[in-house]
Amino acid sequence: MNIVVLGAQWGDEGKGKIIDFLAEGAGVVVRYQGGNNAGHTVVIDGKKFALRMVPSGILHKGKKCIIGNGLVIDPKSLLEELAYLRKNGIKVGKNLLVSENTHVIFPYHNLLDTLSESKSKKGKIGTTSRGIGPAYMDKIGRTGIRMADLLNKRVLKEKLEKNLEFKNYILTRYYKVKPFNKSKLLREYTAYGQKLKHFISNTFPFIHEQVSLKKNILFEGAQGTMLDVDFGTYPYVTSSNATSGGACTGTGVGPSAINRVIGVTKAYTTRVGEGPFPSELTGPGGDLLRKKGNEYGVNTGRPRRCGWFDAVVGRYSAMVNGLTGLAVTKLDILSGIKELKICVAYRIDGKVVKDFPADMDRLARAVPVYKVMKGWTEDLTQIRHYSKLPQNTKIYLREIEKLTGVKISILSTGPDRSQTFILGKIWTR
Ligand code: IMP
Repeated sequence: MNIVVLGAQWGDEGKGKIIDFLAEGAGVVVRYQGGNNAGHTVVIDGKKFALRMVPSGILHKGKKCIIGNGLVIDPKSLLEELAYLRKNGIKVGKNLLVSENTHVIFPYHNLLDTLSESKSKKGKIGTTSRGIGPAYMDKIGRTGIRMADLLNKRVLKEKLEKNLEFKNYILTRYYKVKPFNKSKLLREYTAYGQKLKHFISNTFPFIHEQVSLKKNILFEGAQGTMLDVDFGTYPYVTSSNATSGGACTGTGVGPSAINRVIGVTKAYTTRVGEGPFPSELTGPGGDLLRKKGNEYGVNTGRPRRCGWFDAVVGRYSAMVNGLTGLAVTKLDILSGIKELKICVAYRIDGKVVKDFPADMDRLARAVPVYKVMKGWTEDLTQIRHYSKLPQNTKIYLREIEKLTGVKISILSTGPDRSQTFILGKIWTR
């Protein structure tokens, strides 16, 4: 059984926790896109782990974890993450593979990311400044440098030369900042290559073999559907395919190998960075959700924008990902809110629209149409079974299922691994 777990909203849905939970039943966990713009939090027996690039499956013994070709990796940041894991008692060795096709982030990517954001007065994206967009630009522009290149000094030198010729031109002429020194970068990145060489390999035959052997594989997405470069709120998106298609292009398996797609969604909605967010609560309602849900970025510390559950987004996400199940997280945060709202449609230019608009200019004018639901006061954090949930919680969840057309497979009522329960079949047919 091969399962894709991805974000069904704008990221930060709690994927790390769900992946860690499902990793128990998996043999292999493969991350398929993004980079250290992601922050996946997992809490085990009260101890918090913050992951960036390494698949959340690493926290389980005996699981093979793979960083797929679809990612962009900052090697310095990866080495820091590995040191952090080891310091916290997690074994990292033969259990981790990095695809040799994975693209590498260089400091000029970070700088170009920051400069392009600071230069744009209008249309700022609100990126994480980790160089993600510029690194993917090089990948698509066919000038990117891949992990395998770090192990070949001659190739790395040639590629760096070519890249720096252009990048330094832009940096000095357009942005009026200092250029990068080739020899220094060559030395630094050759050293990273040496430190990472035991992890770098041709991962495709291994994954293919696991598929053939019918081992359970978990495909881990980062960010979320609405941040996908094709399906998200473009241009306010990240630069990769966070949707289920990315699981194929970012790892090297064909679509026929995927059996299930689980969309992780909060019981409400959050987003970081700029861009449209129709069900956003900008007043005290948003502040309350932010405070109760501790809605601040794992790695960046940025406050998240908060709002009601958006079923238009949910339906769209179900469609573009082929969702077979939902994992609803942070349900406990809604306890004590007297009246809950679900966005069931948008009103755009006087018309009620149920499909997510492709035209972002129209989306900017969308006014949410809400269904008001009764809240509940009970604390959910100790509940481990659906039948024990308050009646109003069940009604709220059923409404989400009805409006999105997707059954809920997993519920999460707190940050700990133990505060998770399954409603449907996961690893069994
Ligand atoms: P980038 O991925 O750094 O280029 O940022 C592009 C957009 O994606 C910005 O709005 C970021 O806030 C958002 N973003 C990137 N990574 C994450 C994430 O892990 N969670 C939530 N939002 C993210």
